Amino acid sequence: MSLFITAVPRKRHNSSSLARIRGYLASDAVRAVQSALGLFWVIDGAGQLPPFASAPTVVALAQIGIGVGLLWRPTVRIALAGSVVGAALIWWLGESFGLLFTGAAVLIVPVALVVWPNGRPGGLLGDRGARVMWAALWIGMGWLWLRVADDTEAIALVAAGLSVLIGAAVGLRWHARTFLWTAIGLSAVTWVVGQLTQGLGSGAAGTSPMLILLAGAMFTLFPRPERAVVSVAADPPLTEAALSRRTVLTTVGIAGAVAAAAVIADVAGAFGRGGAGGGSPFGGPFLGTHHNDTHGNDGGGSPGADDPNSGIQTLTSEAPLPAQFSATLPIPQELQPTRRTADTDYYEITQSAATAEILPGLKTPIWGYNGTFPGPTIVQNPGRDVVVTHRNDLPVPTVVHLHGGAIPHDSDGYPTDFVLPAASYGDFSTMPAMGDMPSMADPQAVVTRQTRDYTYPKPPRAATLWYHDHRMDFTGASVHRGLAGFHIARDAEEQALPLPQGNRDVPLMIADRAFAADGSFLYPALDPTMRSTPGVQKDADNGVMGDVILVNGAPWPVLKVDAARYRFRILNASNARTYQLALDGSAGFTQIGTDQGLLAAPQHLDTIAISPAQRFDVVIDFSQRKVGDRITLTNQLGSGSTAAVMRFEVARTATDTSSVPATLSTMDSIVPSSAKSTRTMRFHRAGADWEINGRVYDPTYSEADVQAGSTEVWTVTSDFHHPFHVHNATMQVVSRDGQAPGPYDVGWKDTVFLNKGEKVQIAIRFSDYKGRYVFHCHNLEHEDMGMMANFTIN
Ligand code: C2O
Ligand code: CU
Repeated sequence: MSLFITAVPRKRHNSSSLARIRGYLASDAVRAVQSALGLFWVIDGAGQLPPFASAPTVVALAQIGIGVGLLWRPTVRIALAGSVVGAALIWWLGESFGLLFTGAAVLIVPVALVVWPNGRPGGLLGDRGARVMWAALWIGMGWLWLRVADDTEAIALVAAGLSVLIGAAVGLRWHARTFLWTAIGLSAVTWVVGQLTQGLGSGAAGTSPMLILLAGAMFTLFPRPERAVVSVAADPPLTEAALSRRTVLTTVGIAGAVAAAAVIADVAGAFGRGGAGGGSPFGGPFLGTHHNDTHGNDGGGSPGADDPNSGIQTLTSEAPLPAQFSATLPIPQELQPTRRTADTDYYEITQSAATAEILPGLKTPIWGYNGTFPGPTIVQNPGRDVVVTHRNDLPVPTVVHLHGGAIPHDSDGYPTDFVLPAASYGDFSTMPAMGDMPSMADPQAVVTRQTRDYTYPKPPRAATLWYHDHRMDFTGASVHRGLAGFHIARDAEEQALPLPQGNRDVPLMIADRAFAADGSFLYPALDPTMRSTPGVQKDADNGVMGDVILVNGAPWPVLKVDAARYRFRILNASNARTYQLALDGSAGFTQIGTDQGLLAAPQHLDTIAISPAQRFDVVIDFSQRKVGDRITLTNQLGSGSTAAVMRFEVARTATDTSSVPATLSTMDSIVPSSAKSTRTMRFHRAGADWEINGRVYDPTYSEADVQAGSTEVWTVTSDFHHPFHVHNATMQVVSRDGQAPGPYDVGWKDTVFLNKGEKVQIAIRFSDYKGRYVFHCHNLEHEDMGMMANFTIN
């Protein structure tokens, strides 16, 4: 005997045909709801399947099992057992808050179906029991909403209130019809308001309105429960086939309607501000991973599994975009020291909110170092120490990291070593954490208020470094707002070379953005104030890319050049986008340096694959060009607006005494056999988190203890594309998937790109500075969602 639910007219022998039809409709509808739920669980489960065996895999499989059970044979008992197991697993494994919601939903829905099969109290619990359960359910839902709510998420507070109200109403007095219309009305309001204010698309925020809608739908289907009875009996064999046919048709119809609505709203951009799939209450299952895989790919030269941007969604600007190659390339100001001593230059930077005119006629609010994006360039001259006093005038804590430097740990910009804003902004002592990451309360953190001195001892080699924000859980959002600048270290060896210099030595900071209609940057943050809730909407959790390419903060700019050699220090400061740079109609680039300084010898590159945080120092020779020639720097991984980066226009003839010598630098190679130890670092997805070796970032856990000045060989594997970055160390690629390193791996790196499924051996030489440092993925959304870990130098 199964608990299969069949609704039949109460008095079969003398019921009117209308009543009979109602009865069958009710039965069909129950099955249809069950089947739709089944479909939902299958899709949602598949959407959450991470590529490696892990707890979320089990959960996702459980979900799929439930879904198939409901779809194939709508037997509630199977679903119930499966959901109890699934929910228990989720709670026990404590994977993440988003999954917790899913777990609750997995548990709640089938229980509801059993307890209240036809929209009528009764079933297993009886009237009073059912009422208590429903009341508990709604109040619990309210509590869950409260947990994700804060002052910026008014919608969450509203939803919490409504849920509790419904719960109280149910608990106090049963009235199905009133409840029905209340639920439908409130769910619609919640949904619409959610779309208008937040674009609620994340797993947690999307689940509750969806459940409200489902509950509303169930009440709609059974407004008159007295017309139906519940038979707890073996499935009636004769009506089964007919019912099943109608069930399938109904299910297909519902699924089709939902899909069509999603597609229409998606195309119309109605689902939030994020362009394609910005956020819908069905965000998880219907617009999640699958959606990204089909629409997120930028296409271009090599779409598909090998495309280093595949699976990452490109946000579409709402503001009209300017013609390409109309802006002039800005050159970031070189910062002047406020004082000098015998061996040290002192600088001061104020981090502040400002506006920038990036798109003509529109004001873009930014956060900038000295109010500019990019920030001012710090030039560190040979043999000089640098001290930068940062003042935080922003409404949030900040952390400054000098990317690529060898730096004492208290100046490295550890993610919890906050510079708190002025006291009037609050103390930020109870900031929540993402998923099941620990909160930002870190006993070892050294927190200052308002200002902090960062000390940068003279670097080991000349190199194009950059500084950027590194606040735990908010790095992506902060850098996206503009907190990034160049830090150029020079040394005597490099200065003795005849390389292009002066205004023929040009830093190029490439970063993609998308713009809202008012000119502000589009960033799908869950909390746009960046003061409490970290993270991005679910569709953006593979990374955030935009449709506008900025160089030094200007869209597709032009640089007028002499007919001469130029040195360009190319930095990819994008949050997630990898570029394949090329020069149209030209002989390519002469690469002279990379992340950590000069190569031993120049190498010719036709194109340059540059992932987030990487640097390529190149010489481009315009000396054979005619005045008026235009040379476009293109992006072969882009398409449409992202296929171009900037343009060079030869403006005048000029004398040029520069050259690129055959030997640039002495560069000892790290001999892998000198390696102290070998470790494996697995970069992978787990549910809503991005993890390293099965863990999300935890300030109190050290993944590796290493010896100062030692070299280790790490084998790094990846399930997606991840730029691997280690602080306070310099690296050489030893092998890539068992093969020799590639053309972009040459030289001393601090960021090594791993494409999907790659396994790269990397020799890492740690600096002599001792203490706690981090290594992480430099896809900043991945980093913020947990893909970071400590290592300790002893
Ligand atoms: Cu560029 Cu840890 O960062
Ligand atoms: Cu990553």
